[in-house]
Amino acid sequence: MRHLISIKEQTKWDILSILELAQKIKAKRQAGELTNLLPNKTLVMLFEKTSTRTRISFETGMTELGGHSIFLDKRTTQFSLTDFSDEIQAVMRYASVLMFRAQKASDVELAASLNQIPVIDACSEKYHPAQALSDILTMAEKSGGIENVKKIVWLGIENNVSNTLMLACAKLGIQVVIVAPEVDQASVDSELNRQAEATGKVLRTLDLATALANADYIHTDTWMNMEFFDGGQVKPEFQTEYERRKQTFLPFQINAELIDTFAPRAKIMHCMPLHIGYEISRDAVNHSGSVIFDQAENRLHMQKAIILWLLEKEGEILNS
Ligand code: CP
Repeated sequence: MRHLISIKEQTKWDILSILELAQKIKAKRQAGELTNLLPNKTLVMLFEKTSTRTRISFETGMTELGGHSIFLDKRTTQFSLTDFSDEIQAVMRYASVLMFRAQKASDVELAASLNQIPVIDACSEKYHPAQALSDILTMAEKSGGIENVKKIVWLGIENNVSNTLMLACAKLGIQVVIVAPEVDQASVDSELNRQAEATGKVLRTLDLATALANADYIHTDTWMNMEFFDGGQVKPEFQTEYERRKQTFLPFQINAELIDTFAPRAKIMHCMPLHIGYEISRDAVNHSGSVIFDQAENRLHMQKAIILWLLEKEGEILNS
């Protein structure tokens, strides 16, 4: 049974197949063709954390595939009252695919290990494979083919999003440069790092000029925790950590000056939500190289491809 957890399980050929599927399904949508390939199938979406893009793109995607989705959160279900393993086994009896935004990747892995239905890690503390594959779709489109993407740079904190993007790109033979003064310790997966480094495609440096030279894409994500703020003001108990992070990470902010100085032809990407003035400036979001909103849209097309691939239905699109 196929699962999408960390990209460690996927080969280069799996990634290319999912990419081709997403490109074809997007083209069909743009041509006004229906893709009702999943009638009577249900996607269960379990969220232990908040979401805008992941929820909407998976839910809309399942609708456009002719199926149905059910949104569950921890607060309004019985998950907080009982053993997770028992409850998730019951939930999976009702559905064809489980999409799970979990606090702990180990819970996603537990659900997948039961091999009842395909399971997607929809952003745990360690992985965000649906985002990584969507980003590969965006880069392939903007570069006229993923084979034309030679180098990407990740700026800011090394985390769940960078983990899966790094591994997916490294598997495709893309040079990945990580410019991160800190690693989110909860995100560390030594086996993932070993797999990525074994490709010979990963470089870690804090030298911006070296990192950004000839970059095709620059990616970033938040390095400020949103619980630090209340009504736009920093809560007193987080003031020290807020100042420390600003000092540590601001030199690695994506802004127009940085782009124009070091990587004028690079495209700018951010998985969103944006935290303007922290990891990215407004002038970078509005920069001519920004592809951030196309990147957000591509979540929809890629989520459909992921669901079809997990259900081993790719032939119905790739051979049509
Ligand atoms: N990028 C992303 O996963 O967005 P959401 O947190 O809004 O789902």
